[in-house]
Amino acid sequence: MASPLFATKSVETLMRESGETGEHCLKRALGPINLVTLGIGAIIGAGIFVITGQAAAQFAGPAIVISFVLAGIACAFAGLCYAEFASLIPIAGSAYTYSYATLGELIAWIIGWDLILEYAFGAATVAVGWSGHLRAFMRDLGWNLPAMPTSSLTLLGIPVQLRYDYVGFLVIVAVTTILVIGIKESANLTTAIVILKVAVVCMFIALATMFLSSHAWKPNFWHPFIPANTGTTGEFGWSGILRGAGVVFFAYIGFDAVSTAAQEAKNPKKDMPFGILGSLVICTVLYILVSGLLTHLVPYTQLNVPDPVVVGVRATGHQWATFLVELGALAGLATVMLVMLLGQSRVFYSMSRDGLLWPWASKIHARFRTPYISSMVVGIFVAILATLLPLHILDEMTSVGTLLAFVLVSAGVWVMRKTHPELPRPFKTPLVPLVPILSIVLCGALIYGLSPATKWRLLVWLVIGLVIYFTYSVKHSKVRNNAKQSLNELGASAPQSTHF
Ligand code: ALA
Repeated sequence: MASPLFATKSVETLMRESGETGEHCLKRALGPINLVTLGIGAIIGAGIFVITGQAAAQFAGPAIVISFVLAGIACAFAGLCYAEFASLIPIAGSAYTYSYATLGELIAWIIGWDLILEYAFGAATVAVGWSGHLRAFMRDLGWNLPAMPTSSLTLLGIPVQLRYDYVGFLVIVAVTTILVIGIKESANLTTAIVILKVAVVCMFIALATMFLSSHAWKPNFWHPFIPANTGTTGEFGWSGILRGAGVVFFAYIGFDAVSTAAQEAKNPKKDMPFGILGSLVICTVLYILVSGLLTHLVPYTQLNVPDPVVVGVRATGHQWATFLVELGALAGLATVMLVMLLGQSRVFYSMSRDGLLWPWASKIHARFRTPYISSMVVGIFVAILATLLPLHILDEMTSVGTLLAFVLVSAGVWVMRKTHPELPRPFKTPLVPLVPILSIVLCGALIYGLSPATKWRLLVWLVIGLVIYFTYSVKHSKVRNNAKQSLNELGASAPQSTHF
């Protein structure tokens, strides 16, 4: 008999769960346009508004454009795999759910645990970016926010300097409150802000293009396009481009969050692939344009600031536009936090319903019909992360966690084609197994490019997850308990003579 570690949740059970409606289930309120806006709402955020400049300044220079292309190609392959899964298994839980049906419980647990890095650490990263933008915005208005309190302590003999980002804390508390109140309200708010965010990005592209094509003085900050490596792996040169790709990969994260809303989509089979791929394509084009123009306008060495796009707009001489960019970034980053925290609480919800996490995580509020306890616990955890950890640690942890999830999902599509070839697939990943293999190789390369400390932290995170799995989840897993119950029933009904 196969090990229970690799027990899979049957696709029939998943489909039955996705068809359930009623008071204790999530509302089906989202159409295709809602899903694309949900995707863009999750994608465009701190990645383009903050991390692009920092990654150009520290790792890749103007060649950050190549980093964006690399990361975009990896996401396109992973996105094609996600889209097949999301249309095949249209229920809440994202990569976690898909892998439970294909790769078995242990891998599903690892992915679910790994997705905490993507959504919870991702939301914390954006909160820190939001805080930086708010400070810059207030400073431009002539009001300086009180400085962040700091303290120092010694941890395992190492002196650690802590700073308390109270703005990051407060913004996460505010977003969590919106989520507890309800999905429909959250989706409407997302739509309005996404329009503003995309408009601001397009405005930057238009102003920068006009400036560069009409201005008499044309500085060539693209020279050298690939600054020479400093002698340290990951600092400029080709290794810097790879490191930059792993870091700006953060900017693409979010299209997969669309799949976590599958249980709230009106027509998940058709609309999920549209939502995932549509939002990814739009954002890739915008990113390549923004990063190229930004490094053309401003020397990359000057971009290691909390608001690099604002620095870019300022270089075009349109002071009025800087306010719009600040406002668009503040509102835009807020929607990213909304979608990420939404995704995180929904993954907890699914894991808890399967018995792999504590029952409180799947408790639905009678009036709001949201997994309110799960949202609140996630909110507090993320608020603490945003308060204590610096942007670069949060950013790289988010990227590495998401990349690992992408690798596992891509493998899952391939496995699923072999184990369940007969299932109807409203959207089929083209050229299987080539596309899943390319996705695995490219995402693996981006993980390889990240800093060694990040990979160690990932390992520690996975070990903590496995401890919880083996001490709690194996005892409470519904899939295992149902299988055990069926075996016992079989034993009880078997004739005496068969027992030896
Ligand atoms: N892609 C999202 C952002 O850039 C996570 O903020």
